[in-house]
Amino acid sequence: MKSIFEKEKELFLPTYNRIPIEISHGEGVYLIDKTGKKYMDFFSGLAVNALGYAHPKIVKAVSEQISKYAHLSNNYITDIQVEFTEKLLKYSKMSKAFLTNSGTEAIEGTLKLIRLKVGPEKKIFSLTNSFHGRTYGAMTLTAREKYKKGFEPLLPNIFHINHNDIEDLQDKINEETGAVILEFIQGEGGINEASEGFLKKLIELKEKYGFILVADAIQDGIGRSGKAFVHEYFNIKPDIIVAAKAIGGGLPLGAFLTTDEFTDVFHVGQHGTTYGGNPVCCAAGKVVLEEVFENGLIEKVNELGAYFKNELMFLQKQFPDKIKEVRGRGFILGVELHTEGAIYVKQFRTAGILANCTNLKVIRILPPLTSNKENIDFFLNTFKMILESN
Ligand SMILES: Cc1ncc(COP(=O)(O)O)c(C=O)c1O
Repeated sequence: MKSIFEKEKELFLPTYNRIPIEISHGEGVYLIDKTGKKYMDFFSGLAVNALGYAHPKIVKAVSEQISKYAHLSNNYITDIQVEFTEKLLKYSKMSKAFLTNSGTEAIEGTLKLIRLKVGPEKKIFSLTNSFHGRTYGAMTLTAREKYKKGFEPLLPNIFHINHNDIEDLQDKINEETGAVILEFIQGEGGINEASEGFLKKLIELKEKYGFILVADAIQDGIGRSGKAFVHEYFNIKPDIIVAAKAIGGGLPLGAFLTTDEFTDVFHVGQHGTTYGGNPVCCAAGKVVLEEVFENGLIEKVNELGAYFKNELMFLQKQFPDKIKEVRGRGFILGVELHTEGAIYVKQFRTAGILANCTNLKVIRILPPLTSNKENIDFFLNTFKMILESN
């Protein structure tokens, strides 16, 4: 009989490099393979599974919703969409929402909203090394070449500012600027934080020229950083926040959230989606928001995230020839190695931990927000053993 990996080669377009384990099911922070081996998942479906796997409250909420109706179309507004969105706007301190199925769709909608608001001439900027998604608008914003090469022509009037380069920022921003979109902590790019100096200048220029500031919080948002959104660490209020991944607790859900300034930009029929804001996804999302913001998870992430980062920095001191830098906040952490990280990921897996490496040399740590100190200590002890053996 053919393995699922052989079948995958026959059946699918070859876009993914699959992890060579066959998952049976998930439980909390663990994934269990078909042989019964248990893995602690420390990248949680790329920051999606904020409450881990098979969280009983998500299972209950989703089951109840699906037994009423799975989908109605956006010709209807439903109770669960309203309940979820009220909470999402409350915790993001924003005024209006549009719900999508994914991050990239939320970015596309944001681009459409910006274009309508600022007109065709104004320039939209993102930062170098950024990742904003795979559809054409989001891909144009994405600065990393490997995601765009061969797909040109891309969207016009979109440019990039060098990450954390204050001089470049000053050179490029002027009265022709319509919007600046950034990940306050770049995820795919290697857990790179926007610097305080860069953000200070960005806000100064925003006050001068009045461009739209967008936080792409798809990866670092919804409590993962120890605050609801990373921009709160800098007392910045963006005009638009884009969220996805964790807000669906494992079901496909995204959103862009705006201030009152955007209330009348879209007219009825100018933007839409068949599935976006699906009721079952909203039911799961509501549980995520309750657990993170109302039942103490964010405080736990804050406390344990600081402990985790400190311990990683201690490892860096012990292994300065192997670890170049430790970055990030809360449960979005990156350990930049001096060499490629693929071998580390493999060793982690053998030891029963699923880790991720991004931008070749950065071990990207995105545990479920429900992870406890024992889970973190297991990761740290395993990492130390791997560092000693390499
Ligand atoms: C910061 C950021 N923006 C956008 C996206 C795209 O989201 P999606 O894969 O849900 O389309 C991602 C996905 O990794 C992301 O990390």
